[in-house]
Amino acid sequence: MVKNPVWDSRCLVHIRKMDRQHETLVISAIRLQEALREYSNPQEIDQLFSDLIKKTRVHFQTEETLMQTYDYPHYTSHKKLHDLLLQQVEDSQNTQMTIAQLHQQSWIDKQELADFLGDWLMTHILEEDNKLGVFLRQHGLQ
Ligand SMILES: [Fe+2]
Ligand SMILES: [Fe+2]
Repeated sequence: MVKNPVWDSRCLVHIRKMDRQHETLVISAIRLQEALREYSNPQEIDQLFSDLIKKTRVHFQTEETLMQTYDYPHYTSHKKLHDLLLQQVEDSQNTQMTIAQLHQQSWIDKQELADFLGDWLMTHILEEDNKLGVFLRQHGLQ
C-alpha cells in the first residue's frame, strides 16, 4: 500500500535532530508531488528533486553517525536500507544526480520516482527510524 507522505505526530521518533530532518524531508517530498501534479515548471521540479535527494543523503549520514556513536546493534541492516534507496534512486537516474540529467526524464518517470520516494520515506520513518529512536532514547538521547 502506498503511504502518501504526511507530516504528523506519528512520524515523530522523539530524537530532536532526526525529527527536524524528517519533517524537512517529508515536506520536501509533499512539495515535489504537488509540483508534479500541478505540472509546474520542469526546472523547478528538477530543483526540488535534487534538493530532496541531497537532504536525504545528509540525513542518512546523520543517522548513521548516531548509530555508530551509540553502537546500534542493527546498524548494518539499517545502513543497508539507506544504501539501497540511494542505489535505486541512482539506478532510476542511470547515474549520479545532475539537474541536466534529471531534465531528460519523462514526466511519468518523475512522478513514479517522487511517489516511490515519498512512500519509502514514510515507511522507513514509521518502521526502521522509529526503532532507532526507541534505542537512542534508551541511551539517554533526546
Ligand atoms: Fe530517517
Ligand atoms: Fe533511517
